Amino acid sequence: MKVLILGSGAREHAVTWKYSKSKRITGLFIAPGNGGTGELGVNLPDVDPENPEQVIKACREYDISHVFVGPEAPLAAGIVDELKKAGIPVIGPHKAAARLEGSKIFSKNFMKSYKIPTAEAHQFSNPDKFLKHINSIKGTVVIKDDGLAAGKGVLVSSDIDELTTFGLDILKNGPLLVEECLEGYEISIFTISDGKNYKILPVCADFKRAGNDDTGPNTGGMGAICPVPIINSAMLTEIEKKIIIPTFKGMEKDKLNYAGILYFGLMMTSDGPKLLEYNVRFGDPEAQVLIPLIDSDMGNIVDAVLNGGLDEYNIRISNNSALGVVIASGGYPGEYQVGLPVKPIPSYPEKDALIFHASTTEIENNRVATGGGRCFTCVGIGPNTLKANARAYEAVKGVTFEGSWYRKDIGRKFITNDQ
Ligand code: AMP
Ligand code: GLY
Repeated sequence: MKVLILGSGAREHAVTWKYSKSKRITGLFIAPGNGGTGELGVNLPDVDPENPEQVIKACREYDISHVFVGPEAPLAAGIVDELKKAGIPVIGPHKAAARLEGSKIFSKNFMKSYKIPTAEAHQFSNPDKFLKHINSIKGTVVIKDDGLAAGKGVLVSSDIDELTTFGLDILKNGPLLVEECLEGYEISIFTISDGKNYKILPVCADFKRAGNDDTGPNTGGMGAICPVPIINSAMLTEIEKKIIIPTFKGMEKDKLNYAGILYFGLMMTSDGPKLLEYNVRFGDPEAQVLIPLIDSDMGNIVDAVLNGGLDEYNIRISNNSALGVVIASGGYPGEYQVGLPVKPIPSYPEKDALIFHASTTEIENNRVATGGGRCFTCVGIGPNTLKANARAYEAVKGVTFEGSWYRKDIGRKFITNDQ
């Protein structure tokens, strides 16, 4: 099996790491890849994941047996449809299904048609109607850009001026949603499906705010844990019944099924689980903590996914816990510098800690330089969240560059007294 992984983030480094452990892989290519993936496979820095012609050409040149698409942008642009037309097997949704992530209005309408619990929402394209609505509401609301906005398309606020500015700015380019603000705690659930059958993977939680104790601006995610200790099997059964089953039934009815990952972003409220959003890919940094807990060979999982045999395939999951801490560049999620040289990174036994790179590039003497805002995810693995936390923060000490910073409290709110 020769695989081409599309993307350059820490999520794609985690996917590449998992493939690299497979007994069935004979070739591992990553486009464009990063300094970390380059140690495990062959980076193709000149192949743009959003350019189907370039991706198809690379598949032919390297005799690729399937493609794994990491990020949302190539999916929304229709890379899967193009690869399928060229006869190349691929893990990821076709363009029509990618709208579950690519359009908040489309996904809200889908949730409503299949009676999936979610926040009440109103959609606006007209600035006057939006202004009238926003001035009539009291308390906190959520404004969402309909389109993909790389984590910058959502504002949760009670400040009318801030909401007005944010909303009017979006309306210059397209429609928006104004949503009821839900209260509770957030979890991320991932399913893997073969187009017909699905399997639920261990539950993750992402830490989205920049500051300790969930304060400060929203980010792409500053850390994650897997599994989430407070989620028990009764809660998971309720989530499956109210949210996951109706989603797969609705996708089948609307012909949106695909082979790949579906991400359910949930708010656990006092009124039960509610769906905030779908994403049609793995989360980042959730993938970095979830993937190391999958014991089955990636080649076997992929075989089941691509050949429609997931119902008869048992994905083995480790009993361990994983916790990931993201190391970011100074200034992130605002303006930040790139190209900062990183001090040599020590290595750790893989059963204890893994360090995944995001957008790094190789420089001289086996060293790397930063290439983005979120630069690394340090993952600790252990028998429980507390131990995983200790190992992750030990690994964090080995990853430094000018201005680097990280949250100090990842996982803490979920660590129970019995650990
Ligand atoms: P989304 O891209 O829809 O996941 O939104 C990004 C983040 O905004 C979520 O992870 C939540 O933290 C927050 N958020 C989105 N929708 C709501 C909502 N209806 N109520 C409260 N928080 C929300
Ligand atoms: N961690 C959130 C996301 O990947 O969208």
